[in-house]
Parts: sequence; C-alpha cells; structure tokens
Amino acid sequence: MPNDELFARLEEFYDALPRDGGHPEEFGGLTLFVQDGDGWPFYARPRRDASGPPSAADILAVRQRQRDLGVPEAFEWVHEQSPDLLPVARSAGLSVLEAPLMVLDPTALPAPSELSDIPVRIVDPASDDFCTDIAARRAVAAVGFAAAGTATGDAGPAERDTARVETTPEALAEELARAETGRRVTALAESAADGVLASGLAMRVGDAAEIAGVATLPVARRRGLGAAVTGALARRMLDDGVDLVFLSAGSEEIARVYLRTGFRRVGTACIAEPAAVLAP
Ligand SMILES: CC(C)(COP(=O)(O)OP(=O)(O)OC[C@H]1O[C@@H](n2cnc3c(N)ncnc32)[C@H](O)[C@@H]1OP(=O)(O)O)[C@@H](O)C(=O)NCCC(=O)NCCS
Repeated sequence: MPNDELFARLEEFYDALPRDGGHPEEFGGLTLFVQDGDGWPFYARPRRDASGPPSAADILAVRQRQRDLGVPEAFEWVHEQSPDLLPVARSAGLSVLEAPLMVLDPTALPAPSELSDIPVRIVDPASDDFCTDIAARRAVAAVGFAAAGTATGDAGPAERDTARVETTPEALAEELARAETGRRVTALAESAADGVLASGLAMRVGDAAEIAGVATLPVARRRGLGAAVTGALARRMLDDGVDLVFLSAGSEEIARVYLRTGFRRVGTACIAEPAAVLAP
C-alpha cells in the first residue's frame, strides 16, 4: 500500500475509534475526544478538516478542558501527517514519546508454535467466562504496565489476583457489545498452573485494526508470551478480513517484540502528556 494511502487510513482510524463511545469537541486545530461511558479516557489529536496545524494556544485550551473534565492531558498524532506539531507541543509544555508506528506484513506473521509453547486463546463473547476473562485481561494489564519496559520481575499471579477488580455492569456491557460485533477482540495467554500470564486486545474499525494493551506479568516475561498474544490477535484480525493491522510500540526495545511478530516500522506515533515538573 502506498504511504499516502496508508497514512490516510491511519488518520481515518484514529479519528473514528474514539467516536465509538465518545464525542468530539473542537479546539482550533485540535479535536478532543471525550469519553461518554466507562473505559480508557481518550486523547486529543489534530482535527481532520483543520485549515492549519494546531497552535500552542490550541494545546493550552485543550489542556484546560481536560483538567476541567478530570481526564489525563493526553495528545496523540502521527508525526508524518502533522510534522509541525512536535516542536509546538514541546513549546506548550508537553513531553512527547516518539513511538515506533508499525504495520503488519501478513507474510511475516510466524506460526503460533514458533512464538511460545504456552497456549493463547481468543476470548469468546458467548462464553460464560467472558466476565472473568475481561477481568483477567485488565488485571494483567494493570500489573504489566506498572512494570514498564521488557525486563522480568517478581510480580506474578498473586499480584494479578490482587489487582483484579470487578468490572462494572456498564463496562461489561460495553465490552460485550464490542466483542459481539468484532470491534474489540481480547487474547489471553494462559498456563494450566498459573492462569492468565499475558493479555492484549485488538480494536477494529472497518477493515483496519490496532493492537494495544499487550502486557505480560513480569515473572512470565521473556518466554515469548508478548509476541504470542500479539501474533494471535493479528491472525484473528486477518482471518476476520482486516487488511491493515497496526500498533505503536512503547519503545525501541518493545518494537523488537513486534518485529519478531511480523510488524514493520512505517513511521512515528507521537504520544504526549505534560512534561514532569522538575524538582528545584
Ligand atoms: C512488552 C512486553 C509485553 C513483552 O512481553 P514478553 O512476554 O516478555 O515478550 P516476549 O517474550 O515475546 O519478548 C521479550 C524478549 O524475550 C525474548 N524471548 C522470547 N522468547 C524467549 C525464550 N523462550 N527464551 C529467551 N528469550 C526469549 C525475545 O526475543 C525478546 O527479547 P529482546 O528484548 O532481546 O528483543 C512486556 O515486557 C510488558 O508487559 N511490558 C510492560 C507493558 C508494555 O510496555 N507493553 C507494550 C506496550 S506497546
């Protein structure tokens, strides 16, 4: 796919995804997506029909609105589509992570047996265990993301079970509706002895899907589970007819996990939040 077409499809995806469960508010060259229900708070991003690039004043206006709403001051954009925004964002007090933006080469997706010997299953929305499975995905993500990077650590099944919180009926209903329509697919890597050790999800809009939230309990890292969960989600998306599977990697070292799973870097996803206030 030519790069112009690829980036146009990514823009379409990033603009469409938060409209499922949220609504847009315009601030000059930026659109802030505000969550209507439960779930991850959304980001602000460049407005698709804007006449010019976002200004520092637009960023400050969005940040004020995000503070008023009590949501994280989060901004995301594709650098190749909005090259002027990076210096403007930094001048407006944001710290910007330049994350590798990667697209699946379907011919490079390894067979599941090449990635891990621990089985990965796709959560079935019709199963009686759906609620338990979603709670497990969330608990593994909470423990996994609390231990950033790719290093192994001590946190394992006990910490996962402590982190498990009951999913609210509203959140569960939203998860179920998305799962039943194929808009959200959850994968879990599970051992008979220790339960769910790694998890992740794919979010689909039309024929494009983003893989996100991939996490492995620190004690189970470096055994291929992150790659296996990503690979299972990618395969499921392809089987379901998706022709663009992509993700953004939290760092260059994390990108290696996705590279082994058949993803190739195509650009940079900028993920911004307020720069930490340095102690005097
Ligand atoms: C990123 C993350 C999901 C990777 O999970 P993981 O299960 O450790 O991933 P893998 O085991 O597939 O790969 C990790 C490393 O182990 C290596 N590895 C895989 N199987 C192995 C095996 N059987 N023996 C030894 N090493 C192995 C991989 O080659 C890779 O090495 P590298 O760092 O040198 O490239 C995990 O570190 C994590 O949860 N991090 C915090 C949350 C996060 O940042 N998520 C990603 C958001 S984009």
